[in-house]
Amino acid sequence: MKVTVVGAGAVGASCAEYIAIKNFASEVVLLDIKEGYAEGKAMDLMQTASLNGFDTKITGITNDYSKTVNSDICVITSGIPRKPGMTREELIGINAGIVKTVSSSLIKHSPNTIIIVVSNPMDTMAYLVHKTTSLPKSKIIGMGGALDSARFKYRLAEALGGPISDVDGMVLGGHSDTGMIPLTRMATRNGVPVSEFLSADRLNTVKEDTKVGGATLTKLLGTSAWYAPGAAVSSLVQAIACDQKKMFPCSVMLDGEYGLNDICLGVPVILGKNGIEKIVNIELNKAEMDNMKTSAEAVKAVNDLLEL
Ligand SMILES: NC(=O)c1ccc[n+]([C@@H]2O[C@H](COP(=O)([O-])OP(=O)(O)OC[C@H]3O[C@@H](n4cnc5c(N)ncnc54)[C@H](O)[C@@H]3O)[C@@H](O)[C@H]2O)c1
Repeated sequence: MKVTVVGAGAVGASCAEYIAIKNFASEVVLLDIKEGYAEGKAMDLMQTASLNGFDTKITGITNDYSKTVNSDICVITSGIPRKPGMTREELIGINAGIVKTVSSSLIKHSPNTIIIVVSNPMDTMAYLVHKTTSLPKSKIIGMGGALDSARFKYRLAEALGGPISDVDGMVLGGHSDTGMIPLTRMATRNGVPVSEFLSADRLNTVKEDTKVGGATLTKLLGTSAWYAPGAAVSSLVQAIACDQKKMFPCSVMLDGEYGLNDICLGVPVILGKNGIEKIVNIELNKAEMDNMKTSAEAVKAVNDLLEL
């Protein structure tokens, strides 16, 4: 199992670290455009191998895609992150060019790869990869919902005053401050609806805190977060690499599912060795469906800015 991670910055390096620590991949290639940067991160990470007990070989390279040849999975984290006060959508101008060039270079050397798009605005960047490459739709996956759901579970556990391992829940829709749809109605504490424990008002606060989860951290850190994003990507990579058939909300190209077409938006999917093995159509109520439509309209407006 060979995994390439493009962008050896905060999220890319964190993702490589979690993949290595989980010890399921033989090789992780970190690639960055900044001279020596990926080599340095890879060497530093390899010097944790004896301490953290992993055998994954991490190599770093400066912009030489021949070293990524025959990657089973490629993760794209290259591009600029947002600064405090910025929305993810504002990054489109710079990141679209980067994601387009990077995805075509990756596919040239690994025509059968599965691509996981992380760079923001992620739903639009995943859409761009669909429109500018010939990869099948089952092999282009946008990562956002797995992170947003982890943040949702964190906020739910906080409100419940219990451990995160007792909590389950998902966030669908666009990966943006306004487009996320935390499914409070379906969230559970050990199988019991969380509404049994939390008032509608408290649940609404959980929902709103989840939606601005990234912005809250950007304000605190001065740049966007990396531990949870890196961990979320590594979970998707592991589900594919180990053919786990796990369900995650991911941004995938919709073809009629949830009444939507020609858009990448966060919906539950089953991930296995073939990438997206199934899009799961869960029954949403009217309010949730209305939110999906509004979220889709906002993503479409950003997609319209792409020069395709
Ligand atoms: N989808 C999500 O849930 C999610 C979560 C967090 C961050 N992000 C996004 O991920 C991206 C990376 O964030 P970060 O915090 O790691 O940023 P960062 O600045 O720490 O790292 C980005 C790296 O990309 C490299 N890069 C730029 N252009 C490149 C190119 N053409 N080829 C190869 N490498 C290139 C830079 O040199 C840099 O090292 C941002 O767009 C951010 O908004 C997405």
